Amino acid sequence: MSSVSKTIALLPGDGIGPEVIEAAANVLRDCAREFSHRFELVEFPVGGVAIERCGAPLPAETLEGCRAADAVLLGAVGGPRWDSLPIGRRPESGLLALRQELGLYINLRPIRLYGPLRGISPLRPERAVQIDFEIVRELAGGIYFGAHRTEATSSGDRAEDVEAYSTSEVTRVARFAFDRARRRSGRLASVDKANVLATSALWRRTVTVLAAEYPEVQLEHFYVDNAAMQVVLAPSQFDVIVTSNLFGDILSDAGAALVGSIGLIPSLSCGTGTPLYEPIHGSAPSLAGKDCACPIGAILCVSMMLRETFGLGLEAAAIEAAVVQVLTAGYRTADIAEPGSTIVGCSEFTQRVRAELADSLVQIERYGWGV
Ligand code: IPM
Ligand code: MN
Repeated sequence: MSSVSKTIALLPGDGIGPEVIEAAANVLRDCAREFSHRFELVEFPVGGVAIERCGAPLPAETLEGCRAADAVLLGAVGGPRWDSLPIGRRPESGLLALRQELGLYINLRPIRLYGPLRGISPLRPERAVQIDFEIVRELAGGIYFGAHRTEATSSGDRAEDVEAYSTSEVTRVARFAFDRARRRSGRLASVDKANVLATSALWRRTVTVLAAEYPEVQLEHFYVDNAAMQVVLAPSQFDVIVTSNLFGDILSDAGAALVGSIGLIPSLSCGTGTPLYEPIHGSAPSLAGKDCACPIGAILCVSMMLRETFGLGLEAAAIEAAVVQVLTAGYRTADIAEPGSTIVGCSEFTQRVRAELADSLVQIERYGWGV
């Protein structure tokens, strides 16, 4: 087994961010030790803590550190403390600037129902048989990055946000989604609002043209309102979903709820610069500092990073298996608890995952990867 040497920029951020990043960093350190990889972890401020410490949500030193790293692992940004700041100076703008500066135009969010969590899906058991799809969200354009304006008029304030997409912006993210679908079941759902929005009509045309290059992928278009309903009614029909920045933000929270908790979902943002991994949950200020946050999203960011960016698929699978084993044994953070389960905190859950991982690595050393 060949070992790798990588630098990972850790951006814990705000709220529960530092707790879940500590959990993920410990899993990374375990992997390094067990497999003789070298993971250098370097920490930088982002979001609210960066505003407090450096006066800006994305300090230059943080951006440089991310550019120099092989991957970035971010916790969460934002909190009530900065709510009164104008849009553009809030913690969230640090994350948006980071995505933009690193050229991260793709965001991949796997929505998977793990067997032991079937009981906590809000779906009836016969509908929650199999949920395993990926949302490919456009991340560097659309309404997030169009002009945001507020003006005073004689009849009161007026605000506008501009949504714009070019053919090339749609093509580059759609190509990623087609490739992804080709390697999975060959089904791609493109989500838009082409019956109302010009950007969506362009989105649909562009995706349709690209489909000619992927005859083996079956493409289906959905209006976003219908997609939201279908994701809830019959999630197993989806394999890969590709959609715009705002629609992807909304649909991914809905998808997370279906599989048990927003705390479970990791994500990969990629494009031209350093790939960035972050759980899709927010900073959850009410949970911060209480050791009760769910570290699974952040831990699965580690396995996603190992597989997608470092090509370490076996290590990634070992981490995922360890998480599933702890869930199967009935240990849960409060967000995914059910009758009969043992509620544990963020650090105890992580400890248990690390213990499972260490156990399975001993087995692997003894008997090989086949076991
Ligand atoms: C997400 C978050 C961010 C987004 C916020 C924090 C800016 O909700 O990553 O889904 O809207 O992209
Ligand atoms: Mn979101």
